[in-house]
Amino acid sequence: KQDSSLPEAKKIRLDDEDSSIKLKKGDQSGTRILVLGRAHRIRKQKDVIFVELKDGYGKMQCVFAGDVAKTYDAITLTQETSMKIYGELHEVPAGATAPLGRELHVDYFWIDPAWKAPGGDDALSTRVAPDADPNTKLNLRHLTLRGDTASSILLVRDSVEFAFNSTYKELRMRKVSPPALVQTQVEGGATLFEFQYYDEKAYLTQSSQLYLETCLPSMGNVYCIEKSFRAEKSLTRRHLSEYTHVEAELDFITFNELLDHLEYVMCTVLKKVMDEPETAAIIKKLNPSFELPQQPFMRMKYTEAIDWLVKHEILTDEGKPHEFGDDIAEAAERKMTDAINKPIFLTHFPAPIKSFYMQKDAEDDRVTESVDCLMPGVGEIVGGSMRMYDYAELMQAYKNSDIDPEPYYWYTDQRRYGSSPHGGYGLGLERFLAWLCNQHTVRDTCLYPRYMNRCTP
Ligand code: 4AD
Repeated sequence: KQDSSLPEAKKIRLDDEDSSIKLKKGDQSGTRILVLGRAHRIRKQKDVIFVELKDGYGKMQCVFAGDVAKTYDAITLTQETSMKIYGELHEVPAGATAPLGRELHVDYFWIDPAWKAPGGDDALSTRVAPDADPNTKLNLRHLTLRGDTASSILLVRDSVEFAFNSTYKELRMRKVSPPALVQTQVEGGATLFEFQYYDEKAYLTQSSQLYLETCLPSMGNVYCIEKSFRAEKSLTRRHLSEYTHVEAELDFITFNELLDHLEYVMCTVLKKVMDEPETAAIIKKLNPSFELPQQPFMRMKYTEAIDWLVKHEILTDEGKPHEFGDDIAEAAERKMTDAINKPIFLTHFPAPIKSFYMQKDAEDDRVTESVDCLMPGVGEIVGGSMRMYDYAELMQAYKNSDIDPEPYYWYTDQRRYGSSPHGGYGLGLERFLAWLCNQHTVRDTCLYPRYMNRCTP
């Protein structure tokens, strides 16, 4: 039973630092509060039980002593059990530490029977022990997410996505939402997810780029943050089957303006995120050596990269020295990026190894006005280019890539009704986060990863 003579409790979130909340110290009494959350850590001593409560916003040390510590529910308390707790807030004793320097001295608590979490072999910490194998953790992703590391990466993700939106808004770019179910490819047939759409064949979108291009004439510069899908047939640490794609398209620009814009957006997003104390603290914990990248980013032409790889004796996947025209494979790209150890804009890739829609370089028509942004530890995180804007050239490009132009009639029409020099890019949000949060794999930077042979939970 709650003692009705106690002051009425103020309901707060665990991170609340409202100036009306007082801590008991010396003669000053503390505010009586009510908090709701789950037992994150439990430490039982002889007569006292310390519970670290979490509510997704913060943590609070709750001290169960005296009669409350002797209750059945306190003695049998298990990790992840939900609780309603009342008590007076105290300053932590000298020498001790607790979140926000305070602890709750519990005078009453309530656990609905349905709120209890299992203990023993079924306890959360047993099922997803820190040393559990990665597959178990992925099968139990819904429980892994209860942990500090998994959830903190997703909090950074929330801030990063918000920062992209606000940066684009400041640039007066308009957000649109292109379809996920499509009948055209963007990045090659090999990674298309095909499905039966009523009586027709359709695909899950690989990129919203072609649709963004159709918005330019009447909506100005546009962007979207949508899912893209790739039927990747290999297991790597940076490939997902479903990923979040930050894509933008800009009208009447030059290739250099596109590169400047991309660098500005990436750096502004990072600055905004690091200006948020809570997010910056998480990033510093996950990636202690993180610093905002120096500007301007290094700009390196594909031909210079080939020379670099030859000079440093980094071979192709087939074990040969690199030559002009070779695709720079993931391993070689990573070795070069890690050695240079700063962001690189790799530009001017040869047309045959890039997508059909890329604009050729006016000074050297063997190469395209294309860019990949490479980051240490991850490799490519952005792919972009200027788009072919001449009708006849585009028709030829379909032919060269063995693409039937018929389903692309709406894309081709952009070259008939007021074409323009324009360009854009796509940034893989999971890869950006893997770099920012120093994560080995993009599987840990999304909520529920999808990759070859995993569609659960
Ligand atoms: O280089 P990509 O294939 O470029 C495009 O899709 C363009 N149409 C985008 C555009 O210009 N609007 O992909 C762009 C980025 C890559 O740099 C990478 O970060 C990410 O998307 N990406 C993947 N991320 C996770 N898993 C995969 N399977 C990915 N494939 C691409």
